[in-house]
Amino acid sequence: MTHRFRDLLALEPLAADELSFLLDQSKPFQEIQQHPLKKLATLRGKTVALAFFETSTRTRISFGTAASRLGADTMNLQAEASSLKKGETLLDTVFNLNAMKPDCLVMRHAASGAPHYVARHLDIPVVNAGDGTHEHPSQGLLDALTIRDRLGTIKNLNVTILGDILHMLRVQTERLNDPPLSAGDYILLYQLNHERLRRANRDAIVLHPGPINRGIEITPEVADGPQSCVLEQVTNGVAVRMAILYLLISGATETDTHPALEAKPHASD
Ligand code: CP
Repeated sequence: MTHRFRDLLALEPLAADELSFLLDQSKPFQEIQQHPLKKLATLRGKTVALAFFETSTRTRISFGTAASRLGADTMNLQAEASSLKKGETLLDTVFNLNAMKPDCLVMRHAASGAPHYVARHLDIPVVNAGDGTHEHPSQGLLDALTIRDRLGTIKNLNVTILGDILHMLRVQTERLNDPPLSAGDYILLYQLNHERLRRANRDAIVLHPGPINRGIEITPEVADGPQSCVLEQVTNGVAVRMAILYLLISGATETDTHPALEAKPHASD
């Protein structure tokens, strides 16, 4: 079956075969991460706009790295250093970025639905890089890829989501003006520690999207322990984001030859 994606705004509406397709497309890019030279020319001449209206380490750098490893250029907007501070609106900001002719916009915003709103006004693909308490599709895909790699499948697994799920899988202090729980209560109710992990399947794996609040939602012994896949998730994130950018910008389908299979990595710009 052929899949085309105009944007990647959410995983919730995607069918199982579309999700499998995205994971399968990420696999050859995972292999590229193991090469001494990691750069392809697949998107040479293309430009990815990274518009982060909220702080980010992993997602912003991972999308930037993914674009670079595909040979694309990036333009970077960081809200704190932008004219948003002078009162420019979100839509005016993205219209101005778009006027510089990027081929794709990757956007993080604290407001749920903001990337959907922007996508309705732009004629280039928009990727949701996290919209508040709503969706973070590339995170969901890299989580699924990590689980599939480690356990061989994502079907029929018991997945325990541990935490205050109203505020996601980690304590999102940036969204909590008035935290519903004290740190002490959170630790008591939800902290993933050695004792709690012992109640899980012996070969259960531990994922965390980051950033980790060490000693609050997870103890260092678990975060750094043998069942932890935290840094593997980060590595897989680059491959997943390479696949997303490749599919959205090139408009490739399942029937096209995968660029990681047809091209040898090279060091040139
Ligand atoms: N997991 C995640 O989105 O991390 P960042 O906020 O650092 O991008």
